[in-house]
Amino acid sequence: MRMYDVIMKKRDGGVLTDEEIGYFVNGYTKGEIPDYQASALLMAIYFQGMNEHETAYLTGCMAASGDEINLSPIPGIKVDKHSTGGVGDKTTMVIGPVAAACGVPVAKLSGRGLGHTGGTLDKLEAIPGLTTSLDQSKFFDMVKEIGIAVAGQTGNLAPADKKLYALRDVTATVDNISLIAASIMSKKIASGSDRILLDVKTGSGAFMKTLDDSIALAREMVDIGTNVGREVVALVTDMDRPLGRNIGNALEVMEAVATLKGHGPEDFTQICLALSSNMLYLAEMGTMEACTAMAKEAIKSGKAFEKFCQMVEAQGGDASYVRKPEKFTVSPVEYELKAEKSGYITAMDTEKIGMAAVELGAGRRKKEDSIDYGAGIILNAKIGDRVENGQIIATLYTSAVSLLSGAIGLLKEAVVIGKEQPEAEKLIYARIT
Ligand code: URA
Repeated sequence: MRMYDVIMKKRDGGVLTDEEIGYFVNGYTKGEIPDYQASALLMAIYFQGMNEHETAYLTGCMAASGDEINLSPIPGIKVDKHSTGGVGDKTTMVIGPVAAACGVPVAKLSGRGLGHTGGTLDKLEAIPGLTTSLDQSKFFDMVKEIGIAVAGQTGNLAPADKKLYALRDVTATVDNISLIAASIMSKKIASGSDRILLDVKTGSGAFMKTLDDSIALAREMVDIGTNVGREVVALVTDMDRPLGRNIGNALEVMEAVATLKGHGPEDFTQICLALSSNMLYLAEMGTMEACTAMAKEAIKSGKAFEKFCQMVEAQGGDASYVRKPEKFTVSPVEYELKAEKSGYITAMDTEKIGMAAVELGAGRRKKEDSIDYGAGIILNAKIGDRVENGQIIATLYTSAVSLLSGAIGLLKEAVVIGKEQPEAEKLIYARIT
Protein backbone atom coordinates (compact mmCIF):
# COMPACT_ATOMS: atom_id res chain seq x y z
CA MET A 1 0.00 0.00 0.00
CA ARG A 2 1.23 3.54 -0.72
CA MET A 3 0.39 6.55 1.43
CA TYR A 4 0.16 8.59 -1.78
CA ASP A 5 -2.82 6.50 -2.93
CA VAL A 6 -4.57 6.76 0.44
CA ILE A 7 -4.23 10.55 0.37
CA MET A 8 -5.48 10.73 -3.22
CA LYS A 9 -8.48 8.50 -2.48
CA LYS A 10 -9.62 10.69 0.41
CA ARG A 11 -8.80 13.89 -1.49
CA ASP A 12 -11.19 12.72 -4.21
CA GLY A 13 -13.97 11.92 -1.71
CA GLY A 14 -13.48 8.16 -1.42
CA VAL A 15 -14.28 6.03 1.62
CA LEU A 16 -11.14 4.57 3.20
CA THR A 17 -11.07 0.85 3.93
CA ASP A 18 -10.19 -0.52 7.38
CA GLU A 19 -6.83 -1.62 5.96
CA GLU A 20 -6.06 1.87 4.66
CA ILE A 21 -6.95 3.50 7.97
CA GLY A 22 -4.90 0.92 9.90
CA TYR A 23 -1.96 1.40 7.51
CA PHE A 24 -2.01 5.16 8.08
CA VAL A 25 -2.36 5.03 11.89
CA ASN A 26 0.30 2.34 12.36
CA GLY A 27 2.71 3.84 9.84
CA TYR A 28 2.44 7.35 11.25
CA THR A 29 2.77 6.17 14.86
CA LYS A 30 5.92 4.21 14.02
CA GLY A 31 7.42 7.17 12.17
CA GLU A 32 7.30 5.39 8.81
CA ILE A 33 4.88 7.92 7.34
CA PRO A 34 6.28 11.45 7.42
CA ASP A 35 4.50 14.51 8.86
CA TYR A 36 3.94 16.00 5.39
CA GLN A 37 1.97 12.99 4.15
CA ALA A 38 0.02 12.73 7.41
CA SER A 39 -0.79 16.45 7.14
CA ALA A 40 -2.02 15.98 3.59
CA LEU A 41 -4.33 13.15 4.62
CA LEU A 42 -5.64 15.14 7.59
CA MET A 43 -6.43 18.04 5.27
CA ALA A 44 -8.18 15.68 2.84
CA ILE A 45 -10.24 14.27 5.75
CA TYR A 46 -10.95 17.83 6.88
CA PHE A 47 -12.53 18.67 3.54
CA GLN A 48 -14.07 15.32 2.57
CA GLY A 49 -15.10 14.06 6.02
CA MET A 50 -15.33 10.46 7.18
CA ASN A 51 -18.42 8.33 7.54
CA GLU A 52 -19.46 6.73 10.85
CA HIS A 53 -17.66 3.49 10.18
CA GLU A 54 -14.41 5.21 9.12
CA THR A 55 -14.53 7.38 12.27
CA ALA A 56 -15.20 4.43 14.56
CA TYR A 57 -12.43 2.40 12.92
CA LEU A 58 -9.99 5.32 13.14
CA THR A 59 -10.85 5.66 16.84
CA GLY A 60 -10.24 1.95 17.46
CA CYS A 61 -6.87 2.01 15.67
CA MET A 62 -5.78 5.10 17.60
CA ALA A 63 -6.89 3.59 20.93
CA ALA A 64 -5.03 0.38 20.12
CA SER A 65 -1.88 2.19 18.92
CA GLY A 66 -0.33 1.84 22.37
CA ASP A 67 -1.09 0.56 25.87
CA GLU A 68 -4.64 0.37 27.14
CA ILE A 69 -4.90 1.03 30.86
CA ASN A 70 -6.83 -1.39 33.02
CA LEU A 71 -8.18 0.60 35.97
CA SER A 72 -9.98 -2.36 37.53
CA PRO A 73 -7.49 -2.66 40.43
CA ILE A 74 -8.82 0.73 41.63
CA PRO A 75 -12.09 0.16 43.50
CA GLY A 76 -15.21 2.13 42.59
CA ILE A 77 -16.72 3.47 39.39
CA LYS A 78 -14.03 5.49 37.65
CA VAL A 79 -15.43 8.51 35.81
CA ASP A 80 -13.45 10.56 33.32
CA LYS A 81 -14.37 13.92 31.86
CA HIS A 82 -13.17 15.56 28.68
CA SER A 83 -13.81 18.93 27.09
CA THR A 84 -13.68 19.45 23.35
CA GLY A 85 -11.75 22.63 24.06
CA GLY A 86 -12.52 26.23 24.71
CA VAL A 87 -11.16 29.56 25.85
CA GLY A 88 -10.81 30.03 29.61
CA ASP A 89 -11.94 26.43 30.05
CA LYS A 90 -10.33 25.54 33.36
CA THR A 91 -13.09 23.20 34.54
CA THR A 92 -10.90 20.12 35.16
CA MET A 93 -9.06 21.93 37.96
CA VAL A 94 -12.40 22.40 39.74
CA ILE A 95 -14.56 19.43 38.89
CA GLY A 96 -11.82 16.80 39.29
CA PRO A 97 -11.23 17.81 42.93
CA VAL A 98 -14.98 18.20 43.56
CA ALA A 99 -15.68 14.66 42.32
CA ALA A 100 -12.68 13.23 44.20
CA ALA A 101 -13.73 15.03 47.40
CA CYS A 102 -17.13 13.33 47.05
CA GLY A 103 -15.46 9.91 46.83
CA VAL A 104 -15.42 9.33 43.06
CA PRO A 105 -12.02 8.10 41.81
CA VAL A 106 -10.79 10.48 39.09
CA ALA A 107 -8.10 9.07 36.78
CA LYS A 108 -7.84 11.91 34.32
CA LEU A 109 -5.67 12.16 31.26
CA SER A 110 -5.61 15.68 29.89
CA GLY A 111 -4.19 17.48 26.90
CA ARG A 112 -2.18 20.54 25.98
CA GLY A 113 -3.41 23.66 24.25
CA LEU A 114 -4.72 23.08 20.76
CA GLY A 115 -5.19 25.89 18.23
CA HIS A 116 -6.78 28.84 20.01
CA THR A 117 -7.85 26.73 23.00
CA GLY A 118 -5.93 26.13 26.20
CA GLY A 119 -5.03 22.74 27.68
CA THR A 120 -5.21 21.53 31.29
CA LEU A 121 -1.64 20.21 31.29
CA ASP A 122 -0.22 23.61 30.36
CA LYS A 123 -2.38 25.26 33.02
CA LEU A 124 -1.35 22.84 35.77
CA GLU A 125 2.31 23.19 34.82
CA ALA A 126 2.03 26.90 35.62
CA ILE A 127 2.19 25.74 39.26
CA PRO A 128 5.93 25.65 40.05
CA GLY A 129 7.31 22.13 40.35
CA LEU A 130 4.16 20.35 39.20
CA THR A 131 4.65 17.55 36.74
CA THR A 132 1.97 16.03 34.57
CA SER A 133 4.31 13.23 33.39
CA LEU A 134 3.28 10.48 35.76
CA ASP A 135 4.23 6.90 35.09
CA GLN A 136 1.47 4.37 35.34
CA SER A 137 2.30 3.16 38.85
CA LYS A 138 2.44 6.71 40.25
CA PHE A 139 -0.83 7.51 38.46
CA PHE A 140 -2.52 4.44 39.98
CA ASP A 141 -1.09 5.10 43.45
CA MET A 142 -2.39 8.67 43.40
CA VAL A 143 -5.90 7.63 42.39
CA LYS A 144 -5.92 4.92 45.06
CA GLU A 145 -4.46 7.09 47.82
CA ILE A 146 -5.92 10.55 47.27
CA GLY A 147 -8.63 9.80 44.75
CA ILE A 148 -7.34 11.91 41.86
CA ALA A 149 -4.49 12.25 39.37
CA VAL A 150 -4.34 14.46 36.28
CA ALA A 151 -1.64 13.45 33.86
CA GLY A 152 -0.56 13.71 30.24
CA GLN A 153 -0.51 10.89 27.75
CA THR A 154 2.71 9.48 29.11
CA GLY A 155 4.21 6.15 28.29
CA ASN A 156 2.52 4.69 25.36
CA LEU A 157 -1.12 5.67 25.70
CA ALA A 158 -2.82 6.38 22.37
CA PRO A 159 0.53 7.48 20.85
CA ALA A 160 -1.21 7.90 17.50
CA ASP A 161 -3.39 10.63 18.98
CA LYS A 162 -0.44 12.25 20.70
CA LYS A 163 1.36 12.66 17.36
CA LEU A 164 -1.73 13.54 15.35
CA TYR A 165 -2.96 16.05 17.94
CA ALA A 166 0.34 17.96 17.79
CA LEU A 167 0.26 17.89 13.98
CA ARG A 168 -3.37 19.03 13.72
CA ASP A 169 -2.62 21.90 16.09
CA VAL A 170 -0.24 23.46 13.56
CA THR A 171 -1.89 22.44 10.27
CA ALA A 172 -5.38 23.97 10.71
CA THR A 173 -7.00 20.54 10.82
CA VAL A 174 -8.51 20.58 14.29
CA ASP A 175 -12.14 21.50 13.75
CA ASN A 176 -13.47 18.40 12.06
CA ILE A 177 -16.08 16.18 13.71
CA SER A 178 -14.44 12.85 12.83
CA LEU A 179 -10.95 13.94 13.83
CA ILE A 180 -12.10 15.42 17.15
CA ALA A 181 -14.31 12.42 17.94
CA ALA A 182 -11.51 9.95 17.17
CA SER A 183 -8.95 11.97 19.10
CA ILE A 184 -11.02 12.29 22.24
CA MET A 185 -12.60 8.85 22.27
CA SER A 186 -9.34 7.01 21.48
CA LYS A 187 -7.76 8.52 24.59
CA LYS A 188 -10.81 7.94 26.71
CA ILE A 189 -11.11 4.31 25.63
CA ALA A 190 -7.40 3.62 26.14
CA SER A 191 -7.36 5.29 29.54
CA GLY A 192 -9.80 2.78 30.93
CA SER A 193 -12.44 4.73 32.89
CA ASP A 194 -15.80 3.02 33.25
CA ARG A 195 -17.90 6.10 32.53
CA ILE A 196 -17.12 9.21 30.53
CA LEU A 197 -18.54 12.72 30.74
CA LEU A 198 -17.97 14.86 27.66
CA ASP A 199 -18.19 18.65 27.70
CA VAL A 200 -18.88 19.52 24.08
CA LYS A 201 -18.39 23.23 23.57
CA THR A 202 -20.44 25.19 21.07
CA GLY A 203 -20.09 28.72 19.70
CA SER A 204 -17.48 31.15 18.41
CA GLY A 205 -14.71 29.87 20.70
CA ALA A 206 -15.39 26.17 20.15
CA PHE A 207 -14.08 23.99 17.35
CA MET A 208 -17.73 23.37 16.49
CA LYS A 209 -19.30 26.78 15.92
CA THR A 210 -22.92 25.77 15.42
CA LEU A 211 -25.24 23.99 17.80
CA ASP A 212 -26.10 21.42 15.12
CA ASP A 213 -22.44 20.49 14.58
CA SER A 214 -21.81 20.37 18.33
CA ILE A 215 -24.77 18.07 18.85
CA ALA A 216 -23.57 15.89 15.94
CA LEU A 217 -20.10 15.67 17.52
CA ALA A 218 -21.62 14.82 20.91
CA ARG A 219 -23.81 12.13 19.34
CA GLU A 220 -20.87 10.64 17.41
CA MET A 221 -18.76 10.38 20.56
CA VAL A 222 -21.57 8.96 22.70
CA ASP A 223 -22.20 6.31 20.03
CA ILE A 224 -18.52 5.38 19.73
CA GLY A 225 -18.37 4.94 23.53
CA THR A 226 -21.57 2.94 23.69
CA ASN A 227 -20.31 0.59 20.96
CA VAL A 228 -17.28 -0.29 23.03
CA GLY A 229 -19.28 -0.74 26.23
CA ARG A 230 -18.57 2.57 27.97
CA GLU A 231 -21.37 4.69 29.38
CA VAL A 232 -20.97 8.19 27.94
CA VAL A 233 -22.93 11.37 28.67
CA ALA A 234 -22.29 14.61 26.79
CA LEU A 235 -23.28 18.12 27.86
CA VAL A 236 -23.28 20.68 25.06
CA THR A 237 -22.18 23.93 26.72
CA ASP A 238 -21.73 27.53 25.66
CA MET A 239 -18.46 28.81 24.21
CA ASP A 240 -19.78 31.98 22.59
CA ARG A 241 -17.88 33.86 25.29
CA PRO A 242 -14.80 32.87 27.26
CA LEU A 243 -15.52 30.89 30.41
CA GLY A 244 -14.91 33.05 33.47
CA ARG A 245 -12.72 36.15 33.17
CA ASN A 246 -9.16 34.81 33.10
CA ILE A 247 -7.47 33.38 30.01
CA GLY A 248 -3.87 32.13 30.20
CA ASN A 249 -2.23 29.48 32.30
CA ALA A 250 -1.31 31.00 35.69
CA LEU A 251 -4.30 33.35 35.46
CA GLU A 252 -6.61 30.36 34.99
CA VAL A 253 -5.14 28.47 37.94
CA MET A 254 -5.89 31.55 40.05
CA GLU A 255 -9.49 31.64 38.86
CA ALA A 256 -9.93 27.90 39.41
CA VAL A 257 -8.65 28.32 42.97
CA ALA A 258 -11.11 31.18 43.58
CA THR A 259 -13.92 28.95 42.29
CA LEU A 260 -12.86 26.05 44.50
CA LYS A 261 -13.02 28.52 47.39
CA GLY A 262 -16.57 29.47 46.45
CA HIS A 263 -15.99 32.88 44.92
CA GLY A 264 -15.42 32.19 41.25
CA PRO A 265 -17.24 33.92 38.39
CA GLU A 266 -20.93 33.05 38.08
CA ASP A 267 -20.84 31.44 34.59
CA PHE A 268 -17.79 29.32 35.36
CA THR A 269 -19.19 28.21 38.73
CA GLN A 270 -22.49 27.19 37.11
CA ILE A 271 -20.74 25.09 34.45
CA CYS A 272 -18.50 23.47 37.06
CA LEU A 273 -21.51 22.56 39.19
CA ALA A 274 -23.38 21.10 36.21
CA LEU A 275 -20.38 19.02 35.13
CA SER A 276 -19.53 17.85 38.65
CA SER A 277 -23.14 16.85 39.31
CA ASN A 278 -23.14 14.80 36.11
CA MET A 279 -19.85 13.15 37.07
CA LEU A 280 -21.26 12.20 40.47
CA TYR A 281 -24.47 11.01 38.83
CA LEU A 282 -22.52 8.81 36.40
CA ALA A 283 -20.70 7.37 39.40
CA GLU A 284 -24.11 6.44 40.88
CA MET A 285 -23.77 8.72 43.89
CA GLY A 286 -27.51 9.55 43.92
CA THR A 287 -30.17 11.49 42.08
CA MET A 288 -29.09 14.51 40.05
CA GLU A 289 -30.46 16.81 42.79
CA ALA A 290 -28.52 14.94 45.46
CA CYS A 291 -25.38 15.06 43.30
CA THR A 292 -25.73 18.82 42.81
CA ALA A 293 -26.09 19.28 46.57
CA MET A 294 -22.97 17.12 47.15
CA ALA A 295 -20.94 19.13 44.64
CA LYS A 296 -21.98 22.42 46.26
CA GLU A 297 -21.14 21.07 49.70
CA ALA A 298 -17.69 19.88 48.54
CA ILE A 299 -16.92 23.49 47.61
CA LYS A 300 -18.58 25.08 50.63
CA SER A 301 -16.83 22.80 53.12
CA GLY A 302 -13.40 23.46 51.55
CA LYS A 303 -12.96 19.72 50.88
CA ALA A 304 -12.63 20.17 47.11
CA PHE A 305 -10.00 22.88 47.59
CA GLU A 306 -8.02 20.67 49.97
CA LYS A 307 -8.25 17.83 47.44
CA PHE A 308 -6.75 20.09 44.78
CA CYS A 309 -3.90 21.05 47.16
CA GLN A 310 -3.27 17.34 47.87
CA MET A 311 -3.20 16.58 44.16
CA VAL A 312 -0.80 19.45 43.42
CA GLU A 313 1.57 18.28 46.16
CA ALA A 314 1.41 14.65 45.06
CA GLN A 315 2.38 15.76 41.54
CA GLY A 316 5.39 17.64 42.90
CA GLY A 317 3.83 21.11 42.78
CA ASP A 318 4.35 23.87 45.30
CA ALA A 319 0.91 24.04 46.91
CA SER A 320 1.77 27.33 48.61
CA TYR A 321 0.95 28.96 45.23
CA VAL A 322 -2.51 27.45 45.35
CA ARG A 323 -3.01 28.46 48.96
CA LYS A 324 -1.77 31.97 48.21
CA PRO A 325 -2.44 32.58 44.50
CA GLU A 326 -0.99 36.10 44.80
CA LYS A 327 2.41 34.32 44.70
CA PHE A 328 1.92 33.67 40.96
CA THR A 329 3.72 36.19 38.81
CA VAL A 330 2.02 37.49 35.72
CA SER A 331 4.12 38.56 32.74
CA PRO A 332 5.62 42.04 33.19
CA VAL A 333 4.25 43.91 30.16
CA GLU A 334 0.71 45.03 30.94
CA TYR A 335 -1.73 46.76 28.59
CA GLU A 336 -5.23 48.00 29.31
CA LEU A 337 -7.62 47.77 26.38
CA LYS A 338 -10.28 50.48 26.61
CA ALA A 339 -13.75 50.76 25.12
CA GLU A 340 -13.79 53.12 22.15
CA LYS A 341 -17.46 53.99 22.67
CA SER A 342 -20.18 53.62 25.27
CA GLY A 343 -22.79 50.87 25.11
CA TYR A 344 -23.29 47.22 25.90
CA ILE A 345 -20.94 44.40 24.97
CA THR A 346 -23.11 42.46 22.56
CA ALA A 347 -20.68 39.81 21.27
CA MET A 348 -17.21 38.43 21.81
CA ASP A 349 -15.58 36.44 19.03
CA THR A 350 -14.12 33.93 21.43
CA GLU A 351 -11.79 32.24 18.94
CA LYS A 352 -10.14 35.61 18.29
CA ILE A 353 -9.79 36.15 22.04
CA GLY A 354 -8.13 32.72 22.32
CA MET A 355 -5.83 33.60 19.43
CA ALA A 356 -4.96 36.88 21.16
CA ALA A 357 -3.92 34.89 24.25
CA VAL A 358 -1.72 32.68 22.02
CA GLU A 359 -0.15 35.83 20.50
CA LEU A 360 0.70 37.01 24.01
CA GLY A 361 2.57 33.74 24.67
CA ALA A 362 -0.09 31.74 26.54
CA GLY A 363 -0.24 29.09 23.77
CA ARG A 364 1.91 27.64 21.00
CA ARG A 365 2.05 28.77 17.40
CA LYS A 366 4.40 25.94 16.42
CA LYS A 367 4.76 22.44 17.92
CA GLU A 368 8.11 23.28 19.52
CA ASP A 369 7.12 26.66 21.02
CA SER A 370 7.35 27.04 24.77
CA ILE A 371 4.63 28.61 26.89
CA ASP A 372 4.81 31.84 28.87
CA TYR A 373 2.81 30.78 31.93
CA GLY A 374 2.30 34.35 33.11
CA ALA A 375 0.87 35.59 29.80
CA GLY A 376 -2.83 36.05 29.16
CA ILE A 377 -5.88 38.24 29.40
CA ILE A 378 -8.24 39.29 32.16
CA LEU A 379 -11.63 40.31 30.85
CA ASN A 380 -12.77 43.29 32.88
CA ALA A 381 -16.12 43.26 31.07
CA LYS A 382 -18.16 40.49 29.49
CA ILE A 383 -21.14 40.08 27.17
CA GLY A 384 -24.15 41.98 28.51
CA ASP A 385 -22.09 44.44 30.56
CA ARG A 386 -22.55 48.19 30.09
CA VAL A 387 -19.26 49.96 29.32
CA GLU A 388 -18.48 53.67 29.00
CA ASN A 389 -16.11 55.18 26.45
CA GLY A 390 -12.57 54.80 27.85
CA GLN A 391 -13.49 52.10 30.38
CA ILE A 392 -11.07 49.16 30.61
CA ILE A 393 -12.55 46.10 28.96
CA ALA A 394 -9.54 43.78 29.08
CA THR A 395 -6.08 43.70 30.64
CA LEU A 396 -3.33 41.96 28.67
CA TYR A 397 -0.13 40.43 30.09
CA THR A 398 2.90 39.41 28.06
CA SER A 399 6.67 39.25 28.22
CA ALA A 400 7.57 41.69 25.41
CA VAL A 401 6.00 44.85 24.03
CA SER A 402 6.46 43.43 20.51
CA LEU A 403 3.89 40.72 21.29
CA LEU A 404 1.16 43.21 22.11
CA SER A 405 0.09 44.64 18.77
CA GLY A 406 -1.23 41.38 17.23
CA ALA A 407 -3.21 40.59 20.37
CA ILE A 408 -4.64 44.10 20.65
CA GLY A 409 -5.78 43.97 17.00
CA LEU A 410 -7.52 40.63 17.54
CA LEU A 411 -9.23 41.79 20.72
CA LYS A 412 -10.48 44.98 19.09
CA GLU A 413 -12.01 42.90 16.31
CA ALA A 414 -13.42 40.41 18.81
CA VAL A 415 -15.34 42.67 21.16
CA VAL A 416 -18.51 44.23 19.74
CA ILE A 417 -20.17 47.17 21.53
CA GLY A 418 -23.77 47.97 20.61
CA LYS A 419 -26.70 50.03 21.85
CA GLU A 420 -29.01 47.30 23.14
CA GLN A 421 -28.25 44.99 26.02
CA PRO A 422 -28.30 41.44 24.56
CA GLU A 423 -30.46 38.74 26.09
CA ALA A 424 -28.65 36.39 28.45
CA GLU A 425 -27.44 33.31 26.56
CA LYS A 426 -27.86 29.77 27.79
CA LEU A 427 -24.88 28.08 29.46
CA ILE A 428 -26.05 24.52 28.75
CA TYR A 429 -27.80 23.62 25.51
CA ALA A 430 -28.27 19.88 25.60
CA ARG A 431 -27.55 16.66 27.47
CA ILE A 432 -26.94 13.72 25.15
CA THR A 433 -26.93 10.13 26.35
N1 URA B 1 -9.58 17.68 22.44
C1 URA B 1 -8.93 16.54 22.05
O1 URA B 1 -8.47 15.77 22.87
N2 URA B 1 -8.84 16.31 20.75
C2 URA B 1 -9.36 17.13 19.82
O2 URA B 1 -9.23 16.84 18.67
C3 URA B 1 -10.01 18.30 20.22
C4 URA B 1 -10.12 18.56 21.55
